[in-house]
Amino acid sequence: MTEIPWKTYTENQKFSCFDESTEKDWNGNFYFVQTADIQFGLIQRYLENNPQPGWAKETALAELAVEKVNRMRPRPRFMVMCGDLCDAFPEQQPELREQQEKEFKRIFSKLHQDIPLVCVCGNHDVGDEPTAKSVQAYRNSFGDDYFTFWCGGIFFIVINSQFLWDSSKVQDIAQEHEEWLNCVLAEAKKNKVKRAMVFQHIPWFLYSPDENESNYFCLNLETRMKWMDKLREAGVQYTFCGHYHQNAGGAYKDLRVVTTSAMGGQLGKDSPGVRVVRVQERTVDHVYYSLENIPSVIQVDQPE
Ligand SMILES: [Fe+2]
Repeated sequence: MTEIPWKTYTENQKFSCFDESTEKDWNGNFYFVQTADIQFGLIQRYLENNPQPGWAKETALAELAVEKVNRMRPRPRFMVMCGDLCDAFPEQQPELREQQEKEFKRIFSKLHQDIPLVCVCGNHDVGDEPTAKSVQAYRNSFGDDYFTFWCGGIFFIVINSQFLWDSSKVQDIAQEHEEWLNCVLAEAKKNKVKRAMVFQHIPWFLYSPDENESNYFCLNLETRMKWMDKLREAGVQYTFCGHYHQNAGGAYKDLRVVTTSAMGGQLGKDSPGVRVVRVQERTVDHVYYSLENIPSVIQVDQPE
């Protein structure tokens, strides 16, 4: 058996393209590709209600995405998958999970070597109620579940929103995550970081910061109010999320919360796709493309 070549960005395994000494400063317009929820296994299990596990549809979608993203010019600085990499919960179905992860890595290792894949942890990746065991299994397979990096003058913060959803079985690990995030945000505020973005799985809210807190698809009101001003004060202007399997978005003051539909199974009227986020010197814009329509040329210098 040949070893699956696998690369993912983590704090411990820094790609040279995210070298802080060169990436902290603005170095011209660029873009990245943001997506979420390829979730190998969801379509057959949930949308088709098929008792036999399988993920042929996700395989075809992921292969199309990799092929299209590899064709993009100039190349994106990175691609980020905002959680739910696979469908099977690690504690309930570890063997099935292992097969799905193998498929995820088989396909995404075909991304061009100059396009790092940043993986974010979703609820299906550690369970709705994460445990020490499920978190460790994720870290063993994908690396860190929370970290920061600089790219093109923007400070990126990857968080594990599952600790904000339900920390009942992982209070000590969730506490470490909270202390780390407080520290990162305080440091960014102290250093007057001007442009920062967050990647997470579960959105703070879908459309409006004061919407109903009993929604399965976003974090509750108390949690979001605890963090959103801290994010703003640390220079965070955008937070990109997944989990909803539909596109959504809204703003809290000057913090924009952008929810991107799934690369895999849909729960609304969107098509499987990715979001292209262009970063210019003073502005950011983003467009969701279905996989078939991912453009091969991105005009990074064209004014908005
Ligand atoms: Fe999810």
